Order: sequence, then structure tokens, then C-alpha cells
Amino acid sequence: MATSEPTGQGGQPDITASTEWAALAKHHDEVSDATLRALFDANPGRGEAFTAEVDGLYLDYSKNLLTERTLELLIALAHRAGLPERISAMFTGERINITENRPVLHVALRAPRDAHIEVDGVNVVPQVHHVLDRMGEFADRVRGGQWRGATGERITTVVNIGIGGSDLGPAMAFGALRDHSDRSIQCRFVSNVDPTDIWEATADLDPATTLFIVASKTFTTLETIANARAARAWLVEKLGDDAVSRHFVAVSTNTEKVAEFGIDTANMFEFWDWVGGRYSVGSAIGLSLMLSIGPAGFRSFLDGFAAMDAHFRTAPFERNLPVLLGLIGLWYRDFLGYDTHAVLPYSQYLDRFAAYLQQLDMESNGKQVTLAGRPVRARTGPIVWGTPGTNGQHAYYQLLHQGTSVVPADFIGFVTPAHPGVGAADGADQHALLMANFLAQTEALAFGKSAEAVAAEGVADWLVPHRTFPGNRPTNTLLADELTPFTLGQLIALYEHKVFTQGTIWGINSFDQWGVELGKVLAGRIVPELTSPTEPPLSHDSSTNTLIRRLRKH
Ligand code: F6P
Repeated sequence: MATSEPTGQGGQPDITASTEWAALAKHHDEVSDATLRALFDANPGRGEAFTAEVDGLYLDYSKNLLTERTLELLIALAHRAGLPERISAMFTGERINITENRPVLHVALRAPRDAHIEVDGVNVVPQVHHVLDRMGEFADRVRGGQWRGATGERITTVVNIGIGGSDLGPAMAFGALRDHSDRSIQCRFVSNVDPTDIWEATADLDPATTLFIVASKTFTTLETIANARAARAWLVEKLGDDAVSRHFVAVSTNTEKVAEFGIDTANMFEFWDWVGGRYSVGSAIGLSLMLSIGPAGFRSFLDGFAAMDAHFRTAPFERNLPVLLGLIGLWYRDFLGYDTHAVLPYSQYLDRFAAYLQQLDMESNGKQVTLAGRPVRARTGPIVWGTPGTNGQHAYYQLLHQGTSVVPADFIGFVTPAHPGVGAADGADQHALLMANFLAQTEALAFGKSAEAVAAEGVADWLVPHRTFPGNRPTNTLLADELTPFTLGQLIALYEHKVFTQGTIWGINSFDQWGVELGKVLAGRIVPELTSPTEPPLSHDSSTNTLIRRLRKH
């Protein structure tokens, strides 16, 4: 961690004071009346023109409230903010995480074996592949039944204990890639310090066939250590102390703490401080995923990331998917003032994708000061949320269509279903139903239904306003052929680099998370106030003091 003020990073001018920002503000005034209907009418080829594709991942951004000129101005802003130089700085291991004095090198996790990326003069790629090889050997042994529990039984359940980036990545990816998994090994994920989480995860398990992965970058996180202790007690109660080395492995950067906890460091898979927690699913943090989909599946997952990395690094901004998503999001956030962004996958397998992106985006870009430590004048990261369609259609889409807030959204879909349905149903292909809804929603959001069209259907006058859809609600459509490990890697890297693009333009540090610290410190102070046998003097505010007393009564 940096103890003295870093040099050379504070001089960045405020992007909102640039001529490029002013040009966008002026442009916004000129185009603010434009409707998606008018934009499509003016350019019949818009649906083909406003698209970009890389390695089978297709982005249609035509249903956005922007013109070619908007994009030109946004790209000029990206150049003004030094985006090309910042991309290069990240990929070459510069210490761009200035508040923690670290490089930001999750891109090294998926680099091919012969790549060369240096940190302090040392090529880190061989270390990355050394750990991947060890993970691969271990995964093969568990999957092949050579690694067995203390009583000689095969491992049939893997429980990953971690939180934040040490949970969301593997949990989301395990769910997304179930169809590519070895179903004789089930994975569970325990994250919450609420004791019911570990209780429910272990209630029906046999310790003899259970493997725990304790995943924590720091190995000091309260929730994870509490759950890991509970898991060890549960195991030892049934199988004794000697069983721990066959049933516990660790993933961490902190060898000392792993040893202190009592896990054999021979069973530890390491990663490095230049991997941020929310960017770590491609590191050893993905061990549970590798156990599930196998080393080859995991390599393919990393190859998807690497393909998107190469695209981000080399494609012109006009055709660069992460840059386009970043710029469009920034347009809505800063010039149209939209606060939230929805991610709506039309795939049940992507059930946890929005939850994953919440950490990625909101922990990265939920910042209020620039790299120079001055208040940021722009509006930074949006509130990210979403669940898979079509469930949302029968819940919150009402607000998306007719509410007073405009919510830009990403619709994510796949051409080929993993499973068309169950049994030989009545001929209606369920995947076609799903995709029909996927298409219908963006069409309805964009073009709505006018009062005239409603009235022409013979609807009573008084009912017309209720049944009118304003339209003009912007969306991106992301379409891939199939949800594979490769596609999932592409998608994650797409959003990682989108977040990078936006953070760079806002001039903030997307790679620290000081905002989570205060609550941790206060919780540490409150624990003894709740658990000590006699009430200690309480010096919080009157609300917190009263609540503590109420809890103590029980
Ligand atoms: O408190 C936030 C955070 O530091 C996240 O950034 C991180 O992903 C999570 O906690 C878990 O941290 P660790 O892997 O060190 O247990």
C-alpha cells in the first residue's frame, strides 16, 4: 500500500472542463428531441450500421439515443482522456492502481504461455501458467477419483467459501456453465457471515465426500474466516483433525495466514496482489469452476477473455465493443442523467450475471474523487441491476416501459439453446418463445405504441393514455451463438474493459475500494458490544445505541 503521495498522477486535467466535454453538452442540446423512431426512419440501414462484432459476439447498439456525430464526439472525449495510453499502461504492468501502488494485470491471467508481461522486471506469465498447471493437476485428480477424502471416498461436493470477488465470479460462472460441467461433482458457494448460509450448505452433506475451498485474496476477511472455521469444526467433529489436509484447500495471496489457519500450504493455490478481487475469476479463485468444467473447459474460458483483451487493445474505437459500451453508458450517465443500468440476460444460466456485474462495476466506478484526489465533477458509475428475462417482464418491466425513469439496458441472448425444452412438447420450441420475447422487448422499448395507434384499435378515450407506450427507451443487444466457456470469458472481459473505459474517462481509480472499509471497522467495534456479558459503555449515535441494546436483550 502506498504510504507517500504518488507522483505524476495528480496533474490530470478535469475531463468535464475539456472542450470535448463541452462539445458533447452542446450536441446533447441539439439532439435531445430526437426519437428512436425518427432516427430509424432517417436511416433505414441503421440496424445494420450501428453494430460491431468480434469472434462471434455481436453487438447491436442501434437502439440507442445517439447519432454518428454523438459517437464521433464520444470517441474524441476518450482520446482526450488518454484512453489509448491508459490501455497500454494497464497491459504493460504500470502501477495504475495508485492508491494501493499496484499494477492492474488481470489480463496476464489469461495470457498465452509464450506471452511476456513484466512486473518490476519479472515476467509474470510463467508464474500464472505454473499455478494453472497445478490447478489442472489437482482438478484432474479430484475429477478422476485419485484425490480422495480421509476415509478413501471420492469427492462429490465442492464447497467454495469466499465473499465478493472470491465468491461472485466462480458462483456466477459455475451457474452459467452448468451444461459444460461434470454433474457427478456438485459445487456450492458459501459467502454470507449469516450462519444459516454455511448451515444450509452443509446440512445434507457427508464430510467424507466434501472438499472445501477457502478462497480469499487477503485471508483476513471476517465472513470467510468465520465460515471456514465453522466448516472445519463441522468436518473435524465427524472425521477428526487429521482429515483437514484431505478436505481443505486454500486460494490466496497470503501464505502466512493460510498456514496459520491450519491449511497445508502444499494445498494452496496462489495468486498475486496485482489481481483485484473483482477481476480474479480467471485466477486460482476459479478453482471450483475448474473442478466443475475441467482444465480444458477452464482454458477455453480464459481464451475467451484473452480474445476480448486483444480486441480491446487493438481494435479502432469505432468497432471496439468494450469502448462502445463504455461510451454509450457514459453518454447516458453524464449527458442524459440516467442513474441506473439494467443487465437482462435471456438465459437462465446467467442467473447471477447481473449480481457479478454489480461488484465489477459498482465497486470499481462507485468513486467520488479523481486520481488527483479532487471531487469528481462527472457522474460516475451507475447503479447496475437485473435478472434473467423473461421473469423480469412479469415484474419490473412495467417501469421500464411506462415509468418516469429511463433505464438503459443490455439484453444478452444466444442463438443456439443448450436445451430446447424437456421431452417432445407440443411443437412450440421454448427457445423460440424465449428469443421472441428477447426481440419483442427491445422493439417495444425503442418504438413504443402511440396514442393514435391505441385509439385506432377502438380503445375508449379515457383508457388510451394508460395503454400508450412512450418508447425511446434505449437498449443494447448482445447476441452470441451459444453460451460456452469461451463466450462467457468474452462477456466478462467485455464488461471489465467497459468499466475501465469509463473509469479512465472520469479520471478515477477503478481498482481500489476504500468505501468498504468504514463499515468493516465499525462492525469490529460493535462485535464485543453485542457479545460481552455485561453492557459496555456505548458511544454511538442514539439510534445505533438503542438498536444494540435491543439486540443484547436476546
Ligand atoms: O471488502 C471488499 C473486498 O475487499 C472485495 O473487493 C473482495 O472481492 C472481497 O472483499 C473479498 O476479499 P478477500 O478475497 O480478500 O477475502
